Amino acid sequence: MAHNHIIPLDRLTAAMHLVVRGFGSHDEEVRLVAGNLIEANLTGHDSHGIGMLPRYAEAYLEGGLFPNRHVQTVVDAGALLRLDGQAGFGQVIGREAMALGIERARRHGSCIVALGNSHHIGRIGAWAEQATAAGLVSIHLVNVVARNVVAPFGGGDARFGTNPVCIGVPLAGRPPVILDFATSMIAQGKTRVAHNKGEPVAPGCLIDDQGRDTQDPRYSVIPPWGALLTFGTHKGYGLAVMCELLGGALAAGMTQRDADASKRRVLNGMLCVLLDPAALGGTEAFEREAAAFVDWVKASPPRAGVEEVLVAGEPERAARAQRSAQGVPVDATTWQEILEAARKLGVDPQAVQQAAGLA
Ligand SMILES: NC(=O)c1ccc[n+]([C@@H]2O[C@H](COP(=O)([O-])OP(=O)(O)OC[C@H]3O[C@@H](n4cnc5c(N)ncnc54)[C@H](O)[C@@H]3O)[C@@H](O)[C@H]2O)c1
Repeated sequence: MAHNHIIPLDRLTAAMHLVVRGFGSHDEEVRLVAGNLIEANLTGHDSHGIGMLPRYAEAYLEGGLFPNRHVQTVVDAGALLRLDGQAGFGQVIGREAMALGIERARRHGSCIVALGNSHHIGRIGAWAEQATAAGLVSIHLVNVVARNVVAPFGGGDARFGTNPVCIGVPLAGRPPVILDFATSMIAQGKTRVAHNKGEPVAPGCLIDDQGRDTQDPRYSVIPPWGALLTFGTHKGYGLAVMCELLGGALAAGMTQRDADASKRRVLNGMLCVLLDPAALGGTEAFEREAAAFVDWVKASPPRAGVEEVLVAGEPERAARAQRSAQGVPVDATTWQEILEAARKLGVDPQAVQQAAGLA
């Protein structure tokens, strides 16, 4: 099994800035792309962290990802925005889209943002954090246009992506609640890890190329393709469909139907609802009840084997604190893939290695 490098945050940041410069990105884009990916690693979501850079490099080199692009406004109806991401870096497009929506929600009390044609916008929780930091509630339904990896409930092959759903709620005087998950049982990255380790995945996560239950992760990693299953049987499946209908068809004019599986680019569509609690009135009651309810659920006596009852957002904050202080684990396979991506982008892998303190 590949061992982990533990890379201090400042070293990792310097190294990833070098790699992202290889895309020809301007300084601000370098900072946003590297920062967003490292933040995903910090929060414990390595599947959406720096390990995405090799995929981004392939997408860029095949002409599916365009550096230095900005969000374009297609429809501006005040509290309703339709935006086009121009297949630019989602780390930039997502941030700009949220900033536009936040400004409108502050002005009008709420805003609906329909974003289409953005390259991969990464960990959706980052966008909910941007909204809650501005005091706003945000709801995100996201579709993924790339290779099909998830089967419909009862279906025997993959028909859509891991379509994430995210909801952020600001709490007065304390950190927000950030619910942020894929609608598949497990992230696709987890099947790759299990495959590399030669381990089975848990039962009920995967079907093979004949639509039969399997625990062999290969069916999500190499052909012949099987499919991941949605979480919560028909319920998670229903959410995934809504991500396509609203984040895809409505917001982006593009669903995962018949997507070109040979392409390495990952496009996301997102429908985002932003709401200023103050504009609804009753702020005091909202703030009191929301905080009291969180305390109430957390006071449930933990069952055997459970240390503490948590609410969404807490695991990510704990991981961020720990990894910021002690360094970010990066497995050796992922690190090699990043060095190889750097080379393809015209960046000296040795310089990346040195910047990370691994030379
Ligand atoms: N851009 C894309 O195309 C895309 C696609 C799929 C997923 N993603 C991202 O992948 C990331 C990982 O998704 P995932 O499904 O593997 O996440 P996950 O299964 O780790 O679930 C994460 C959510 O569950 C909460 N949670 C975890 N443990 C908890 C506990 N014990 N008690 C209460 N809440 C708890 C977390 O705070 C978080 O809100 C997400 O950030 C998602 O946005 C992005």
